[in-house]
Amino acid sequence: QGDEWAFICKVADLPRNDIGTAKHPGGRLDLAIYQLDGEIYVTSDRCTHGAASLSEEGEQQGHIVECAWHNGRFDVRTGEALTMPCRTPLPFFDAKVIDGDIYINPKPKRFKKPE
Ligand code: FES
Repeated sequence: QGDEWAFICKVADLPRNDIGTAKHPGGRLDLAIYQLDGEIYVTSDRCTHGAASLSEEGEQQGHIVECAWHNGRFDVRTGEALTMPCRTPLPFFDAKVIDGDIYINPKPKRFKKPE
């Protein structure tokens, strides 16, 4: 349970130095796909502050994506909201790559502050 991986797109389909996007297997949600040190990270594409598309409006610097609308920042690895005005973490997804195909566990995860 919770172990059903779903194909979202190919690594080869991702833009080279930019944030990629694909549909969530459920169809309604757009995903943002980040490449970092040979790893793939996947979050919801929608900024939790004002609904900007992060694949379009976001600027990735290392493990941080900054939303161009109001400069809020998230950690692409965990969805953690790092700077105001973003407070709500981005839903993120476990991802893996097999033979150049990207799969996610469709169940969204949410960053929780360590106690
Ligand atoms: Fe992204 Fe405001 S919409 S920071």
